[in-house]
Amino acid sequence: MSSFVLSLDQGTTSSRALLFDREGNITGSAQQEFPQIFPRPGWVEHDPREIWASQLATMEKVLGEAGPQEVAAIGITNQRETTVLWDRATGEPIHNAIVWQDRRTAAMIDRLREDGMEDVVRSRTGLVPDPYFSGTKLSWLLDHVDGARERAERGELAFGTVDTWLVWNLTKGERHITDVSNASRTMLFDIGKLDWDRELLDYLRIPSAVLPEVVSTGGVHAEVASGLPGAGLPIAALAGDQHAALFGQQCFEQGGIKNTYGTGCFMLMNLGDQLPAPHEKLLTTVAWQRDGSIRYAREGSIFVGGAVIQWLRDGLGILAESSDVLPLAESVEDSGDVVFVPAFAGLGAPHWDSRARGAIHGITRGTTAAHIARAAVESIAFQSADLFDAISADSDSPITELKVDGGATRDPLLLQFQADLLQIPVLRPKVIETTALGAAYLAGLAVGFWSSTEELSSQQRIDRTFEPSMPTDRARELRERWNEAVRRSLDWARD
Ligand code: G3P
Repeated sequence: MSSFVLSLDQGTTSSRALLFDREGNITGSAQQEFPQIFPRPGWVEHDPREIWASQLATMEKVLGEAGPQEVAAIGITNQRETTVLWDRATGEPIHNAIVWQDRRTAAMIDRLREDGMEDVVRSRTGLVPDPYFSGTKLSWLLDHVDGARERAERGELAFGTVDTWLVWNLTKGERHITDVSNASRTMLFDIGKLDWDRELLDYLRIPSAVLPEVVSTGGVHAEVASGLPGAGLPIAALAGDQHAALFGQQCFEQGGIKNTYGTGCFMLMNLGDQLPAPHEKLLTTVAWQRDGSIRYAREGSIFVGGAVIQWLRDGLGILAESSDVLPLAESVEDSGDVVFVPAFAGLGAPHWDSRARGAIHGITRGTTAAHIARAAVESIAFQSADLFDAISADSDSPITELKVDGGATRDPLLLQFQADLLQIPVLRPKVIETTALGAAYLAGLAVGFWSSTEELSSQQRIDRTFEPSMPTDRARELRERWNEAVRRSLDWARD
């Protein structure tokens, strides 16, 4: 009998492979970073070959340690919206992947609004029109790579988000599939009919011949091709990373809510099995489909969460390692009235302004790198608090606590400040790699490694609860100043 489920967690800055045992403990892991490519301000690309090579290397390492015969199934979870277009015959990408943070299609989104398509986007896809999603990125590739649209029409090209790209490579081109959670981030997918939307495809001039087949989130849809590590293993789940994290946090029922602190921050609340009406400022998305049933979620997304710390390290150069941020930020009592709005890639929910740009406010002669580091950490919590307000206003009952996960939740300063701003307890689980755990759960359930979600409930272990300790008035004052700083960042960049 197999002892583990393998999760492949393909994130924005690194690829990881994690093995989980029956109790949901991590028993093996490997991680590899890959380069971020910034060809122009506001543009972000990845080389799809590096995505695949780094994922394969981590998988090989972990399977080498555990032995593939010990593995029951593979679950794949991935950075969402990132758009890859490749040649079906050779498997070679025809351009770099356009990453979810990329803003190059802002003008296309303006045009879409002017053309009166906003309601179509909102009502069919559940999304707010924005360059964030794959639809305009794919259309851009078809417009800008020589001959791409004609080749796409002839059926020579394949489009995919990162899940699709990984499965294509893991099956050596046998399977061209995506799951409903990833499809619901393309701005091309009708989340009520669970099918590609003809009108949006026509509007963006996307030939249906490039599209992958859409499958459920949990289910055996492919197996690893021979000659690769883990050959023959079933690929039993595909899930967008935030959807997987919602599952990993065991938010199985309506009202369950979590916030993941990764490159960006993503707060999702389970809305149950009925298609919800679209929301003005938040996204509506398919949470997952498994066992013949579907769950929807409301989502608030912000584009720069942990990425602000990376920028302190690589852009500003005030940190040698990302982990140095905590001692530096802790070396001062507060941010010294510095407020940092990291709108590097515009602002997502609840503002949806792709022309917003970052700003650091309140710098005086006494401001030090430590104040800026502290303000950077606080910006993650401020933005998450904005998401929380929007999601709470949409919830039938008051939200009394927040489950959190993701790499940045190692930072107690961040989580304490989060609890202070929200004035509710913030709960950090023992396993903060909840994205990978969720993909493992989905895959393990699909192959019977676990029998039911009830069986998983004993695995919910809280490592630490952060209780609010800041007076309410102070929290309100801080948030008002943050709001003022955000106002000044909105609509900054001009075309
Ligand atoms: O929507 C983008 C999101 O899926 C990226 O997640 O974990 O790479 O920040 P992450």
